[in-house]
Amino acid sequence: MLRFGQIKEGDGLMKMKITILCENTVGRRVGLGEHGFSALIETDQGNYLFDTGSGHSVVRNSLELNKDLRTLKKIFLSHGHFDHSGGLPEVLKVRGKVDVHAHPDIFLDRVHLIRENGKETSKFIGLPYKRKYLESLGANFIFNTDFTEVEKGIFLTGEIPRKTLFEKPDPTLFSEIEGKSVQDKFSDDQSLILETEKGLILILGCAHSGLINIIHHVIHKTGREKFYAIVGGTHLDFLTPNQLEETIEVLKKMDIERIGAAHCTGMRAAFRLSQEFGERFFYGHVGSTLEM
Ligand SMILES: [Fe+2]
Ligand SMILES: [Fe+2]
Repeated sequence: MLRFGQIKEGDGLMKMKITILCENTVGRRVGLGEHGFSALIETDQGNYLFDTGSGHSVVRNSLELNKDLRTLKKIFLSHGHFDHSGGLPEVLKVRGKVDVHAHPDIFLDRVHLIRENGKETSKFIGLPYKRKYLESLGANFIFNTDFTEVEKGIFLTGEIPRKTLFEKPDPTLFSEIEGKSVQDKFSDDQSLILETEKGLILILGCAHSGLINIIHHVIHKTGREKFYAIVGGTHLDFLTPNQLEETIEVLKKMDIERIGAAHCTGMRAAFRLSQEFGERFFYGHVGSTLEM
C-alpha cells in the first residue's frame, strides 16, 4: 500500500542517517576507497543496505565507521554490476539470512567493451556470483520489476521508462541475452526512495537509465516534487558533455535541496555540479553522512 498523498506535515515520518560505506574516494581519513558504491541507511524502524560495493571495503569500512552489518533488516541492489553487487557475499557472511531486494536481471552476464590504443577488449563486469551460492550464504532474493513499497516509507523505483531525448545509454556497456551481446538496456537499474519530513531522498546506484528519467518516474509515482537529497552515482562523466549540460539545466528547475554526487558521477561532472549547485552540492565519499 502506498502512503504517498496520505501524509501531512509533521506526521511522524522516520528519522534516519545515511552513511556512504563504499565509494571510489576517501575523504575523512577513515576507510578504504574502491571502485564501487554502498550506502547504509539507519532509521528508527531498522537498518538497510543499498548496494554492497565490489567486496574489498564494505565490511572493513563498516567496522572503521562503527556500523554493525549484523543489524541489517534488508539489502537492496541497484543493478547487477560487480561494483554494486560484488560485496554481497562479504555482507552475507557477517549478516547471515536476510532479504535481498533486486530486479531479476541482476544475474545477466554483463560486459564492458574497452577500446584503447586501437585495441578492443571486453571485460566481464556482471555479478560475479551464482544465485545458488548467494542463497547458500543466506540471501533470500525478493524480485521486483515495478515501483514497490519495500518497507513503510521506503520504495524501490522498479524499471524506469526512458523518456528524455538527451539521456542516452552508455555505448560501451553490453549484456548477454540468449548467447548474443546486445547493448545493455539496464531494466534492472533501480533507485531507492526514502520518505522524510524534509522531502524525498533518492539514492542512486549508477543511474544507468538516466538521472532525469529516474527523477521524473519518482515524481510520477509518488506525486511529490520536493527532494531533500539525491545521492549516489549519476554516470554523467561517461556520457557526452551535452548530456551533462542538459541534465544540469533540468536539475536547476527542480526542487532539490542537496545533491550528493558519488561513484560513477566522475570528477569532471562532479566539478560541474559543484559549480552549479554551490552549497547545495556535496561529494559522497566514504564516511559521508546525511542525517535528519
Ligand atoms: Fe557503478
Ligand atoms: Fe553500473
